[in-house]
Amino acid sequence: MKMKQDENLVAFPQFPESYWLASTDVPNFPKLNEDIQVDVAIVGAGITGITTAYLLSKKGLNVAVVDAGRILHGTTGHTTAKITAQHDLIYSEFLSHFGKEKTRLYYEANRDALEFIRQTVEENHIDCQFTEEDAYVYTSADTHVEKISDEYKAYKELGIPGSYVEQTPLPFSTKAAIMMENQAQFNPVPFLRYLANQVIRQGGKIYEQTTVVGVDKGNPAIIKTSDGHKITCNHVVSSSHFPFNDPNSLYFARLHAERSYVLAVKTDKTYPGGMYLSAETPKRSLRSVLINGEPMVIVGGEGHKTGQGICTFQYYEALEKFAEQTFGLKEIVYRWSAQDLYSLDKLPYIGQELADVPNILLATGYRKWGMTTSVAAALLNTNLITRKESPYQDLFSPSRFHADPDIKTFVTQNANVAKHLIAGKLGISHKKAEELQQDEGAVIRLNGKRAGAYRDLQGTLHLVDTTCTHMGCEVDWNEAERTWDCPCHGSRFSYQGEVIEGPAKKALGKVEAE
Ligand code: FES
Repeated sequence: MKMKQDENLVAFPQFPESYWLASTDVPNFPKLNEDIQVDVAIVGAGITGITTAYLLSKKGLNVAVVDAGRILHGTTGHTTAKITAQHDLIYSEFLSHFGKEKTRLYYEANRDALEFIRQTVEENHIDCQFTEEDAYVYTSADTHVEKISDEYKAYKELGIPGSYVEQTPLPFSTKAAIMMENQAQFNPVPFLRYLANQVIRQGGKIYEQTTVVGVDKGNPAIIKTSDGHKITCNHVVSSSHFPFNDPNSLYFARLHAERSYVLAVKTDKTYPGGMYLSAETPKRSLRSVLINGEPMVIVGGEGHKTGQGICTFQYYEALEKFAEQTFGLKEIVYRWSAQDLYSLDKLPYIGQELADVPNILLATGYRKWGMTTSVAAALLNTNLITRKESPYQDLFSPSRFHADPDIKTFVTQNANVAKHLIAGKLGISHKKAEELQQDEGAVIRLNGKRAGAYRDLQGTLHLVDTTCTHMGCEVDWNEAERTWDCPCHGSRFSYQGEVIEGPAKKALGKVEAE
C-alpha cells in the first residue's frame, strides 16, 4: 500500500482507525442463541438503533437490538460527529422543492434532536467532549456567493437563527459564509455507550454478531436470523442503513451510498473554534477535537459514490494537503472513512417501511447528517410505536413521493447502476496473482477469469469471486481500506470476502488458487 507520495508530507497511519472507537471501551454483547419474544425488535446498533432502544425501554417496553457485527462500529463510529441542523446549503433548496411548512419542520426535527442530545448529556453528566460551537458553511469562490446569500434569505424566511458574514474565523480568506449559532460537537461513542448501558438497566437486550435474514410480516412479526433463531415481536425497527427486509419496496434503488474520509491531525496553527463546511466541492469539513488532552483538528471531505472512486488513498492525500496549507501539519494521528446513504429527494426515510404494514418501521438516508437525523428518527419512530402523533411523520414518511426531484434522480441513479453492472462484467484485468506485492490488492486474471486478490502483510494470497452477492455487479478493490466495494448499491466486503456493509447479506464466493 502507498503510504506517502510526497516526501514533504507527513506519514499516514498504516491502518484506518476511528478516534471515537479507539478512545472508548465499547462493551461486548452476546450473540443471539435462542428464540425470544419482545415488544420491539431493532435491527442495527448504531446511533439510531441504540437511541430508539433507549427511548422505548425508558417507556417500559421490552426491546431487543441485534447487529450483524459490533455495536457502534458502522457509520456511527466513523462520523465527524457534528451535531447541527445546518446540513450544508439545504434550506433554500428545500424551500423551493417542499415549501415553507415542510422545510421549517425539517429544521425543527433536527433542532429538537440537538436539544435531546444536549439535555441527555447534561442531565446524566456524560463525559463525551460535548461542546457548543457555531456552524458555518463558507465559500472562497465567487461562484458560490449567491448561493450563500440565498441560504441566508431562506434562514430569515424560516426564522432560523443565523448570520451572513464575509470572513469566518478560519485562517484563510473567504468570500461569504452563513453561520448557525449554538450548534454542537461531541464524541458519539461514550454518549452511546451510556445509552446502551441504560438499555440493559431498563431491561432491554442487545445482541452482536447476529445477522437478520428475513421477517415474516404479521402481528406479531417474526424476525429470522442466519443461525435459525426467531424474534417474535409487535414492532420491528430497521435501522441498519439498507432495510434488511426489501423484497418489494426496492429501497436499494431509492438509496445510493457515498464514502467520505477523515483525518485527525496535530497542527502548527491554533484552531479558531467553530465547525466549518465548504459550500463548493471538493468538500472540506473542519472541527476541533481533544486527543489525550491535546487540541487537534478533524479534517473531512472528498465524498464519492462507493466503489466508484479511483485510487482511494488519494482522498486522504487531498485532505492532508488541505490541512497542511490551512494550519501547517505536524502529525496525522488517525485516519478513517465513513459510508452514508442518500435518498432520492435528500430527505431521510423514517416511519412505516411499507404503507400497508404498520408495525415495520424504517430509518435511513441521512446523507452525511446522521448525528441529528438519527435522533430525530429515534424520537419519531418511538412516537409511532407508542401511538403518539408526530408533526414529522408525513414529512419523513418512506412512502412519500415527491415528483420533483425524485423521478429524475431515480432514473439517473439506476442508469448509473446499470452502467456499472455492464461495465464491471466487461472489464478485463491482465494482472496476475504473482505480480501482487505484500499489502496489495487488485482484480486479477486467474485461469482466464476475473478474481479478486489481496496479498497480506505476511505474503498470504486471499482470493474472492468479485461478483457482488446482492445483485451481481462486480466489486472493486479499495486500496485505502483494504476492502472490496460494490459500485451499484454500496455493499462492502473484507479482503476475505465477509460482509462489512449491506445490502448484501452473503459473503463473496471463494476462489481456489491453482
Ligand atoms: Fe447491489 Fe452490489 S450492492 S449489486
